[in-house]
Amino acid sequence: MIYEPRDDSYLTAKYVKKLAKGSVLDVGTGSGIQAVTASKNKKVNKVLAVDIQKDVITHCKKTIKNKKLNFKQSNLFSNITETYDTIIFNPPYLPKDPNLEHDHTYDGGKEGYEIIEKFLKSASLHLRENGIILLLFSSLTNKKKVDSFIKKYKFQSKLLEKQHFFFEDLYSYQLTLKRTKIIISP
Ligand SMILES: C[S@@+](CC[C@H](N)C(=O)[O-])C[C@H]1O[C@@H](n2cnc3c(N)ncnc32)[C@H](O)[C@@H]1O
Repeated sequence: MIYEPRDDSYLTAKYVKKLAKGSVLDVGTGSGIQAVTASKNKKVNKVLAVDIQKDVITHCKKTIKNKKLNFKQSNLFSNITETYDTIIFNPPYLPKDPNLEHDHTYDGGKEGYEIIEKFLKSASLHLRENGIILLLFSSLTNKKKVDSFIKKYKFQSKLLEKQHFFFEDLYSYQLTLKRTKIIISP
């Protein structure tokens, strides 16, 4: 299923437009909205957009023609070998309803945050020096958990914007890798 852009997509795109730079990786591209937005930024030279769903990639390849943009199927970073200046992830962030079939567009795992942890666990391997991650999640995802994963995987976060909707708050974060101080004693 292709995720039609919604509030979370537009909030993410607002900061992709402002902050994307260099070589960009859009994880979970869906309709391709973040990848296309990034490609319009003059500071961006190329964009790779990936999604776990084969149909999504086939659809994007067919409908989006853009010299800066490439699409390929990947489960998070499973099919990614390069490093990037900007990584974008507007993930599926809801707790899975055990009575329904798994839906890649919404289900972030049993609690809703599992996919974000999996993403953060490997993200630093694909981030260049001074690179940024633009990550979106919701109050329905469990903010405390997301903040704890950010710390665990050695990122620091900056809240770009919090938007309140009728049933949830959306958080747009910019993440960077924490610099580790090396102290050499004489
Ligand atoms: C909430 S939608 C966001 C779509 C689009 N980026 C946007 O901002 O509108 C989440 C997308 O992530 C994809 N996705 C889910 N699990 C994934 C995984 N493990 N690896 C890559 N993509 C995944 C889904 O197929 C879906 O297209």
